[in-house]
Formats: sequence, C-alpha cells, structure tokens
Amino acid sequence: MALTVYAPASIGNLSVGFDILGAALSPVDGALLGDSVTIEQSEHGDFALNCVGRFVDKLPTDPKQNIIYDCYLAFRREMAEIGRTDEVAVSMTLEKHLPIGSGLGSSASSIVAAFYALNEHYGRPFDEAKLLAMMGELEGQISGSIHYDNVAPCYLGGIQLMLEKEGRISESLPVIDDWHIVSTYPGISISTAEARAILPNHYSRADIIDHGRHLGTFIHALYRGDGELAAESIRDVVAEPYRKQLIPGFDEMREQMMAQGALAVGISGSGPSVFVITDSQQKAEAMHRWMQQHFIRNDRGFSHVCRIDSLGTRVLEETA
Ligand code: HSE
Repeated sequence: MALTVYAPASIGNLSVGFDILGAALSPVDGALLGDSVTIEQSEHGDFALNCVGRFVDKLPTDPKQNIIYDCYLAFRREMAEIGRTDEVAVSMTLEKHLPIGSGLGSSASSIVAAFYALNEHYGRPFDEAKLLAMMGELEGQISGSIHYDNVAPCYLGGIQLMLEKEGRISESLPVIDDWHIVSTYPGISISTAEARAILPNHYSRADIIDHGRHLGTFIHALYRGDGELAAESIRDVVAEPYRKQLIPGFDEMREQMMAQGALAVGISGSGPSVFVITDSQQKAEAMHRWMQQHFIRNDRGFSHVCRIDSLGTRVLEETA
C-alpha cells in the first residue's frame, strides 16, 4: 500500500504575532502549494528516500542528510518508547515544491508531511498533540529554536495561535471569509537563522505596547468577524523594520499594494516571501500580476492568489 500526503505552505508570524501566529495557504486556482510525501513499505528492509520536484536541487544529495530521514529516526524512537520496536522500514518519496529559505514554511511542509505519512503508515500510534510536538521539535533542530508558527497551521490548517501549553500547543482562530491573499516568493533565499540574528535582543516599551495592542486588536477583530479591523491591525514592530532590508524592493512593493487597495502587507515568516491581504479576488489578481512583473527577481520566483487553507495536511492518494 502506498500513501501520498500533502502539507500546505504557510505564513509564519502573520506580521502581528511573531512566532505565535501562522496561517495555511491554498491557491484559488487549485494548484498545490506545498510538499508531498509518499510512503510505502521498503522492499529491501532498509530506509529509502527519493527526492523529486521543482525545488529538489537545493536538498542534500545524501538521503541520510535529508530532514525526512531525521523525521523517520525521531518517529521510530518515539515508537520504541511505546514498545513498538519490530516495525519494518519504509521507502519515502519527497516531492519538493516549496523552495528552502523562502518564508513559506518549506521545512515545516516537508516535516509535517513526513510525520503525518509515517503516522498513517504505522497505524496512527500517536495523537494530534503528540505529533505536533514531534513536528515542532524537528523544525526547531533546523532553525535553531522551537517555534510552531509554520508547523501548526501546515498540519492543522486555518489561522493558528500558539498557546504552547502541555497538550494545547496551538488553537484555531476564526477566519475572515472574503480575504484573498497574494503570496509571492521573489526567488532569492534567506535563512531563518540569519533573519533571526539581525533582530534586536531588546525592544523599547513603546514597541511592546504597540505589539500588544496590534495583536490584541487582531484577535478581537477576528472573533468579531471584522475583517477590515483585523487586517488593519496587521502591523509588525518586531521583525519587518529590521528584515525588510534583506528583501529588495520591499518598500516600493508595500506602497504599490496599498495604492491598489491592500488591507495589509507583510513579510511571510522570515522572508523573503511577502503576503498581501485584500477583500476581493479581482484586486488580488491585479496585485498578483504586479508582483509577477515587478517583485519577482528570477525564474525561481512565483506568485499565487490564495485563500486560507482550512484543511491542513491531508492524504492525497492511497493505492492498494
Ligand atoms: N517565526 C519565525 C521567524 C519563523 O520569523 O523567525 C518564521 O516562520
């Protein structure tokens, strides 16, 4: 039996909730913006990994250096902890559709798809809370610190708020129905570790107050169903003022998008991808075209008009 699992791209931070908010993305044209993992029993008894897809070229050539292998080892360790030691190895195929260092939750997408697929393959030994904790730990190994703002929305869908409490790592927030989100990757790459290193260690009292007010207003507005207020409160005092210098043309892009009717503009995760929220598909399509012409730097870049993905990670295909 082979099983293919798809895990969507996500926007970490959503600008207003550094490390504690994230949203999953689903392109309106039905394209799959996320990595997939296919899993089946290994024929030779050893772990095997095959990597394919548009962004496979930046992955390590040795399968044992790939994060999918780390996921497999971590999963097997956890199975051993619950007394399941006799299980046979698997063969996995990673379809890498998200570029590394894009700010679209590329590593989270691979990790979440891998853990989800492993859990399905081995008969669901772990519940949602345990799997999410395992996903966050692996993501933390890669970026240097545990933050769930990509793995949680990627796994569970929707807009997620990180509570980081035992068994309640993350919970869903209400979604505004008419939001259309332009998600654009300019084609260059920024490592999360590098983008974290340039942030200040301390913030002023004024910044802390602004941050609290914007985040509080955002969550309040989502529960009120007030999309305009929610989007208007998407303001970033923690990361954007420092990170935007890493993204060529960011200020001009923001100005253009606001002039075209954007409700909010921000850096997706640690960048260089950006997101723009608007209230109509027509406006989003026009912004998407501007992005294609002016913001994308090379042939690795791409742009999509998206909605919030409500499904999260799911099985795409199962063959006997
Ligand atoms: N929230 C983290 C950061 C990871 O901005 O550094 C981004 O997904």
